[in-house]
Amino acid sequence: MAKKGLAIIICSTFGDGELPNNAMKFYDQLCETTEDLSQLKYTVLALGSRDYPKFCAAGHLIDEKLASKGAQRLLPLVELDASSSDKGEGAFESWAPSAVMALGFKMPEITVKSTFSFKHSTNPEDPIHKQPLQPLGFEWGVMLSNTVLTPDGFNPTMHRYQIKLPVGMTYEAGDHVAILAQNNPETVKSVITALHLKEDEILDVETTLPEGFNIIPEKVTVKQLFSQYLDLNGIPSRNLIRVFRQVCTNQFKKEDLSLYLDPSQPRYYSDLTKDTSIGEFIIEFSSYGIPSLEAIVSATPQIRPRLYSIASAPENTVRSIDLIITDVQFGPGGTRNGLCTSFLKRFGLTKVAIHCQKGCFGYPTDPSAPMIMAALGCGIAPMLSLLQHRENLSGKIGNAALFFGCRYRNTYPILDSILQNYVEIGSMQDLYVAYSREGTTKTYITDLMMSNPDVVWKYWSNPKTEYYYCGPARGIPDQLHDILVQITMDKGHMTREEAEAFCAQHPHHVESF
Ligand SMILES: Cc1cc2nc3c(=O)[nH]c(=O)nc-3n(C[C@H](O)[C@H](O)[C@H](O)COP(=O)(O)OP(=O)(O)OC[C@H]3O[C@@H](n4cnc5c(N)ncnc54)[C@H](O)[C@@H]3O)c2cc1C
Ligand SMILES: Cc1cc2nc3c(=O)[nH]c(=O)nc-3n(C[C@H](O)[C@H](O)[C@H](O)COP(=O)(O)O)c2cc1C
Repeated sequence: MAKKGLAIIICSTFGDGELPNNAMKFYDQLCETTEDLSQLKYTVLALGSRDYPKFCAAGHLIDEKLASKGAQRLLPLVELDASSSDKGEGAFESWAPSAVMALGFKMPEITVKSTFSFKHSTNPEDPIHKQPLQPLGFEWGVMLSNTVLTPDGFNPTMHRYQIKLPVGMTYEAGDHVAILAQNNPETVKSVITALHLKEDEILDVETTLPEGFNIIPEKVTVKQLFSQYLDLNGIPSRNLIRVFRQVCTNQFKKEDLSLYLDPSQPRYYSDLTKDTSIGEFIIEFSSYGIPSLEAIVSATPQIRPRLYSIASAPENTVRSIDLIITDVQFGPGGTRNGLCTSFLKRFGLTKVAIHCQKGCFGYPTDPSAPMIMAALGCGIAPMLSLLQHRENLSGKIGNAALFFGCRYRNTYPILDSILQNYVEIGSMQDLYVAYSREGTTKTYITDLMMSNPDVVWKYWSNPKTEYYYCGPARGIPDQLHDILVQITMDKGHMTREEAEAFCAQHPHHVESF
């Protein structure tokens, strides 16, 4: 690095303020190096989300480590917030010119480069109309059932979905499934009409995007392209606005589009994206000029797979998986629906593009290790997987405790009886449920842990006990950690330092979303 003289580092944050896997080796080497870095100039662009308490922590870690090794900051660290309305695109576009200028170059005008080219044809007999190609990296699962777990009229609705796995797809307790959702068929139809396209036209697709950045197969119909691959439900990207501005023939509308893109007036973009989806944007602005299909596809974000914790164990559900999913609603008056959660509950849905992948939850490698689980809302999903897995273990099995938080008594009657049953059959020894909106005394899982130190210590005093948390971030994992430290100090008669060291011995599995 010292020889290169210059480093631009772009780094996201994962887990609970941790480095992404592919940055760990770099960071370890940086910590260990004895190289003189005083001639190295660098800048860090940190990607993160303000939904997490340790915002952009990994970027800051690298930035500070480089500074401590004597390297010179070319520009101060810049944070991009994936939870902001433009997902940090505006902040990136402000950072890029200063970075380019600091490097001694002239900032080129931002234009949208076409990364796709299409050859159009029609053939009503082509089997593609009956059997679309699978999205790259996915296989077809089959939706078997959708059970609503919340009482009638309860908002947000929680579902248990059961999906049949394709032959050869396997998983383990604690794994995730990635689901590639599809757009609402009515939106797809309106967008295709607005763009004057024919839904049955066949496209041979070529792309210059590197592998892993594209899920569109080599051959698709226009209908498949807009149903399965382009995100029509999300927020219009700045590049999509640029593409429509280039061809806009209406002066007033063109000025509107320029305002959305003006980095000095972010309010306009933010107002647009509060209540306009990509589909609605395309439908409105295609009246004033239609960009090429290549430009639209290059500028429209592709549908990103959504991850879900599998809520079953392979031993129990042989060739299928259970999922526990809460519907996502947002926007003014909660009138808008999340892409994947609305796709999954759509009437008549059968095929679902999926793949299973390792999660950060795994059952203790030593089955005699006790477990303390803490879950909020649909964070119960991976705990159900671990509990099902326990049912099938033989030999000496460690005890298990679950602290579960939900809003009201009777929010999830089916789940309540499943959990109660685990206690009755002896698969789980301690179950505590906190109701955060029941009556006048609001109880959270943190309160239940604090008020039951003897139960917690019964588990925690054994350093083999594994700890699991799944639910929203919002500082909860840190609060739970502080409680465990406090209980260790009180019950184990340790100083804070000793208690911190003792707690660190326990394997931790934390999944926040
Ligand atoms: C490791 C992991 C495990 C998970 N496990 C589970 C699980 O077991 N159960 C579960 O229910 N969830 C789980 N999730 C969350 C899940 O992956 C999805 O994020 C969630 O279901 C929402 O998906 P969606 O497509 O319906 O919403 P999206 O369409 O992705 O919308 C999400 C948010 O984006 C914003 N947004 C989207 N479009 C627009 C727009 N046009 N305008 C303005 N704002 C917009 C809104 O704020 C909205 O609330 C998990 C996540 C992770 C990372
Ligand atoms: C499981 C998970 C954990 C995350 N943890 C953090 C975190 O601790 N701090 C943070 O700033 N961002 C966190 N993020 C947000 C990512 O850093 C952010 O989404 C970033 O833009 C990553 O790139 P992506 O959006 O392309 O995935 C997390 C995201 C996920 C999915």
